[in-house]
Amino acid sequence: MNAVCVSRRLRVLGLAALALLLASIALAEQATTQLYLVGVGPGDADLATLRAIRVMKQADLIFASDGIREKFAEHLQGKEVVLGYWRLFPFYGKDPASLQGEERQQAERIDAKRKEFIARVRKAVADKKIVAILDNVDPLIYGPWAWCLEEFEDLKPVVVPGVSCFNAGNAALRRGVTNSEQTKSVILSAADWPGKTDTIDRLSVHHSTMVLFTMRAEFEDFIKKLLVNYPAETPVAVVKHAGYVDKEEVIEGTLGTILDKVKGDALPFEYLIYVGDFLKYRHKNGK
Ligand SMILES: C[S@@+](CC[C@H](N)C(=O)[O-])C[C@H]1O[C@@H](n2cnc3c(N)ncnc32)[C@H](O)[C@@H]1O
Repeated sequence: MNAVCVSRRLRVLGLAALALLLASIALAEQATTQLYLVGVGPGDADLATLRAIRVMKQADLIFASDGIREKFAEHLQGKEVVLGYWRLFPFYGKDPASLQGEERQQAERIDAKRKEFIARVRKAVADKKIVAILDNVDPLIYGPWAWCLEEFEDLKPVVVPGVSCFNAGNAALRRGVTNSEQTKSVILSAADWPGKTDTIDRLSVHHSTMVLFTMRAEFEDFIKKLLVNYPAETPVAVVKHAGYVDKEEVIEGTLGTILDKVKGDALPFEYLIYVGDFLKYRHKNGK
């Protein structure tokens, strides 16, 4: 065997050893992971990833909402699925005793429920069960479960990313959100709340694409704030039920016309507002 052959063989052996090492690291991670936060995607069940389905199948104990349980009934059959722990993030990290009146009562109620949930997860993990918390869409974009990654940091939870409604909304619009003549930036935002410094009117100075997660806030209020810096002729779109083949719907207009177009339409919880010139961009003439 000549020197070239020997060096080639050594290289192949080295690569094989590296692949083996990586595979064993992945297996070790799988073997030690007992807590998963899983994004199951938006809309219909077929927008969940294969990884999300795999974790659902592996898990011994699953926390989910009614809707998620129904949507993935086929994969959850025979599993221990616990419902009723939802929206446990408000006041996380705050001592209810530091609050007053109605707010304090609400914080105490959520705190008690949260403690119950934490105890159940810790007990299951101590009993060597694999626990999966299933969340709609992607858990780390305005997700209600992000707090539990901090709470269970010591358990080294693994997050399974989900398709966001933002991705499904982009697909519904069939437009590239980063395609626009003057800007290639996209801002994801939500309603303004007391103390928020990056308010919608301030964010809109560059006229970049903006996508608003609405979470039951007033539609008219969003439009009023957008009109502070975007001209009235700026295109805007409302995407309802993104990712559902049977009920997805897009309403398009401009900031000046959209209120009339949406008038009388009961907007669901699941809708996004898109604003920006990307909505009228065409590749052929760059406009
Ligand atoms: C608490 S946020 C959750 C966002 C989610 N974690 C994600 O990654 O898309 C809820 C808001 O997301 C938007 N949303 C969620 N699902 C949607 C869907 N299928 N279609 C349109 N908007 C949706 C709505 O604005 C809703 O009020």
